Amino acid sequence: MLELHHLRKTFHPGTPNEVRALRGVSLTIDEGSFVVVIGTNGSGKSTLLNSVAGTFLVDEGRIQLAGKDVTRWPEHRRAKHIGRVFQNPFTGSAPNLTIAENLALAARRGQSRGLGWALRRAELAQLRDQVREMGLGMEDRLSNVIGSLSGGQRQSLTLLMAGLQRPDLLLLDEHTAALDPKSADQVIRLTESLIRKHRLTTMMVTHSMQQAASLGDRLIMMVRGEMRYDFRGEAKRRLTPDAILAKFEEVRRIDQLDESAASLLRRRYV
Ligand SMILES: Nc1ncnc2c1ncn2[C@@H]1O[C@H](COP(=O)(O)OP(=O)(O)OP(=O)(O)O)[C@@H](O)[C@H]1O
Ligand SMILES: [Mg+2]
Repeated sequence: MLELHHLRKTFHPGTPNEVRALRGVSLTIDEGSFVVVIGTNGSGKSTLLNSVAGTFLVDEGRIQLAGKDVTRWPEHRRAKHIGRVFQNPFTGSAPNLTIAENLALAARRGQSRGLGWALRRAELAQLRDQVREMGLGMEDRLSNVIGSLSGGQRQSLTLLMAGLQRPDLLLLDEHTAALDPKSADQVIRLTESLIRKHRLTTMMVTHSMQQAASLGDRLIMMVRGEMRYDFRGEAKRRLTPDAILAKFEEVRRIDQLDESAASLLRRRYV
């Protein structure tokens, strides 16, 4: 379970570049829940995920993961509990190591180094089966370096590695945005099956209305550093891509209204 209490994050405070990226976000995510996060560019989606991962510390608020208060924990300490996949396929795996070596590192994570990270024959066979299950034909290429793989294959592998660690939380930040449609579909199918298989608690950011409608059991929409909508249960199941687009349109209208009201006020007082 993940609990966020009144998170606030301002970048470049007190300067002309000040950005209030999170303005008091509170959210409780049940264990095993798959939450999709949407919102316009700059609305704070990545800042929310980065705050949870510990990329930086929040200015205010509390973050509780699997019963532990991790608010002041550095990123590397949280990483033992959190799996992440980013937009860029080049992050998340070591390009000069082979597929097998990358998988071994992931499987060994959190264990003592004394064990060594070379793969035993039985483990290799097990990993090969898991790679075969992905259906991308990589099972016979385990000794190839990661750098030789396509973007979609790399993202799939990064996901598999995150699954091997059985993290308390999986964070996906537009992890299919840089892929061609066919690879994106494959990676989404793998995402769904891994989340279901391991019952991973997940937050996934996407700009795809299709993904937002069809994936997950909850959908939240960020607007200007706040959580504006939260659909769950039946309300989430009923959402269509068109209905989500209509919400975006509604948000845009309200914000324009705010802006014109603000400019009216400005005119009155200058
Ligand atoms: N490390 C940073 N330093 C300074 N400003 C930042 C930093 N990270 C984010 N911001 C700013 O905070 C705001 C929220 O950014 P964030 O990346 O969270 O948006 P987002 O919703 O993920 O957008 P996108 O859909 O474009 O990925 C933006 O105005 C952004 O410029
Ligand atoms: Mg982002």
